[in-house]
Amino acid sequence: MAVSTRNASLLTRSAAAVWHPCTQMKQHETLPLVPIARARGIWLYDFDDRRYLDAISSWWVNLFGHANPRINAALAEQLEQLEHVMLAGFTHEPVVQLSERLSALTGGGLGHCFYASDGAAATEIALKMSFHFWRNSGQPQKTGFVSLANSYHGETLGALSVSDVALFKATYAPLLRGSTQVPSPDWRLAAPGESPRAYAERCAVALECHLEQHHRETAAFIVEPLVQGAAGMAMYDAEYLRRARALCDRFEVHLIADEIMTGCGRSGTFFAHEQAGITPDFLCLSKGITGGYLPLSVVLTTDAVYAAFYDDSVARGFLHSHSYTGNALACRAALATLDIFEQDHVIETNRAKAAYLDRAAQPLARHPRVRHFRNTGMIWAFDVESDDPAFARRFYQAALARELLLRPIGNTVYFMPPYVITEPEIDFLVAGTCVALDTVVKSSRSPA
Ligand SMILES: Cc1ncc(COP(=O)(O)O)c(C=O)c1O
Repeated sequence: MAVSTRNASLLTRSAAAVWHPCTQMKQHETLPLVPIARARGIWLYDFDDRRYLDAISSWWVNLFGHANPRINAALAEQLEQLEHVMLAGFTHEPVVQLSERLSALTGGGLGHCFYASDGAAATEIALKMSFHFWRNSGQPQKTGFVSLANSYHGETLGALSVSDVALFKATYAPLLRGSTQVPSPDWRLAAPGESPRAYAERCAVALECHLEQHHRETAAFIVEPLVQGAAGMAMYDAEYLRRARALCDRFEVHLIADEIMTGCGRSGTFFAHEQAGITPDFLCLSKGITGGYLPLSVVLTTDAVYAAFYDDSVARGFLHSHSYTGNALACRAALATLDIFEQDHVIETNRAKAAYLDRAAQPLARHPRVRHFRNTGMIWAFDVESDDPAFARRFYQAALARELLLRPIGNTVYFMPPYVITEPEIDFLVAGTCVALDTVVKSSRSPA
C-alpha cells in the first residue's frame, strides 16, 4: 500500500471504529484526525514521514522523548521476567522498588503507595481514603471536599465532583456529589497593583473563612500545586500552599496534592509542593511517572493514614482495587524514568533549558496580542486577545501546518515539551508559534 494511502486509510478506519476522547466526533468531518505511524524523541511521524514536534508531551505525559532507548531496554528486559501479576496477595520487585524510591523522594514523609492506572483513579482513591480515614478515626461526619475554582482532577464521577470546569462537568451535574470551590490564587486574577503573593494570601483568607465554618464536616482540601493545568495553566505563588497546609493542620482537614500534571519535574522541582516546603497528606501522581509509556497512577500517603486502616476488622481496611494495580511493566517504566532523573541530573539540566526557552520566547511575550506570558518550571503559557470563538481549533491547525503539535485551552497557548527538547528545537518551536499566532490573529479582532 502506498504511504499516503496508508494515512488516508487509517483515518477512515479510525473515524469508523474509534470514539476519540474529549471530542465532538462530528468536528472530524472538517478537522481531520492526524495519523501517527511512529515517534522518536520529541517528533511524531505519519506514514509519509510528515513530522510534528510534540510540544505538549502527548497530553502532558512524555518526559524523555518517544522510543527512549533506556526505557525501551528496561521494558524489554521486564517483558522477559514478568508482565503482570495481581497485587492482592502477591508482590513483585518493580512495585516494591518503585514504592521505596517514591517514598524516599518525599523525604520519607509519605511512606505508603497505593496504585491504579489513570490520574482520575488516583483522585478517586485519595478522596475515598480521606473519607474512610475519618470514619475509622471516629469522625464519620467528615465527608465534604473542597477544591479551587477552575480546578481539574479528572473525569470519573468522584473526580469530576471536585473539578470545576463547566465544559466537562455541567452535563453530568445530576450524577455528581456536591463539593465546595474556594477562590483560585491564579495570579491573573489579582487586583491591579496586587502582587501574586499578596493575592495568594488573600485567597488563603477565603479558604480560612470556609474551613472555620465547615471544618467539622470537611474531609479534605484537594489542590493542583502551583499550576492549575486544565484551567489554562493558571499559575500561583507557593505561599498559598504554605498557608493551605497550616490551615488544614489547624482545622484537621487533609491536604491532597494532585500532582498528576505538576509532578515528575514539570514544575521545576521533582514535586511542586516542595517549593512550598510542605508535605501533603495524600500525593497523587500519574502521567509523567512512566515517562509517558504506560498508564500508571499512585497515591502516596502518611504512615498515620496507613495506621488508621491497619486492624483486625476487614471493613476498616481499604478494599478498593483495580485489576492492573501495580502492573509490573508500568512500574518498570517508572523505575527507568527515575533512573534517568538521577543519572542525567534532570532537575538541574532543565533549569538551564527553561532559561533558554524563556529568552527564546521573548518575541511571543512581547507580541501585541499576547497577555500574561508566564512560566513555571517546564511549563509556559500565554493568553491571546482574540474574539474568535474558534481560536483554539484554528490555532491548532495553524500550528500543525508549521509541524507543531500545540493544543490551546480556550485562548491560552501553552508549551509543555518533553525535557529532551534541544535548543535548535526550542528555536523551531518558538518561530513556528510566532507564525501560527500571526496567521490566526490576523483574521480575528482583539476584543475591545
Ligand atoms: C491535575 C490533573 N488531575 C487529574 C487528571 C486526570 O488524569 P487522567 O487523564 O489520567 O485520568 C489530570 C489530567 O489532565 C490532571 O491534569
